[in-house]
Amino acid sequence: MEKVVIAIDGPSGTGKSTTARMLAEKLDYLYIDSGAMYRAITLELLSKKVPPNDLKRIVELATNAKIEFEGEEFLLNGKNVTKEIRSLDVTNKVSSVSAVKELRKILVDKQREYAKQHNVVMDGRDIGTVVFPDAKFKFFFVCDLNTRAARRRQDFIDHGMKIPVEKIMLELKKRDEIDTKRKESPLRKAKDAIEVNTTNMIIEEQVNLLLRRVQGLD
Ligand code: DC
Repeated sequence: MEKVVIAIDGPSGTGKSTTARMLAEKLDYLYIDSGAMYRAITLELLSKKVPPNDLKRIVELATNAKIEFEGEEFLLNGKNVTKEIRSLDVTNKVSSVSAVKELRKILVDKQREYAKQHNVVMDGRDIGTVVFPDAKFKFFFVCDLNTRAARRRQDFIDHGMKIPVEKIMLELKKRDEIDTKRKESPLRKAKDAIEVNTTNMIIEEQVNLLLRRVQGLD
């Protein structure tokens, strides 16, 4: 039977990942955090000191990367890198790494593989536009910049890091700029995606809104 894909796109800090994870749990679907895949390759390039213009190595590393999602844990080549992929260093570099066309092709193929065997909720930047243009359900999350920065700051605090909100805001703006203006699969709303503004919503409301849509109740 054809598998169901629920695509959730939008800028960082809009609440996509938490919503996607909880929605997947409620529906008993597989949750795929596509951003984590770009982060994992970025981590690998940084730890192996591969220069950003060494396309051959990037393609080699990405092709051979064994990426596994195990509940809340994320494994790269058998190693648990759940924490490392969220480091500031990776966060600062991931937008430019994810702009590499050849790398995107490899990861997009891997993302499509997951949906061959499972119903999936997948979040990212190009899921509804490029990876699954025919996804049954598409959502596009937006949120006011101040709220996004405040939420990100809280995430960092939860992970033991205290970072000034101004710095986070600058970082978010920079990432938005790269993600929306890049040539390859820029972040944009698919024509048939439902826009969800999460500025004044709590996670449970977001999850319920999506759930009702998926269940055909709204
Ligand atoms: O969702 P995130 O912040 O973990 O994503 C990290 C980066 O990866 C983000 O700056 C853009 C990129 N990304 C992408 O280009 N395409 C995706 N499908 C998911 C993430």
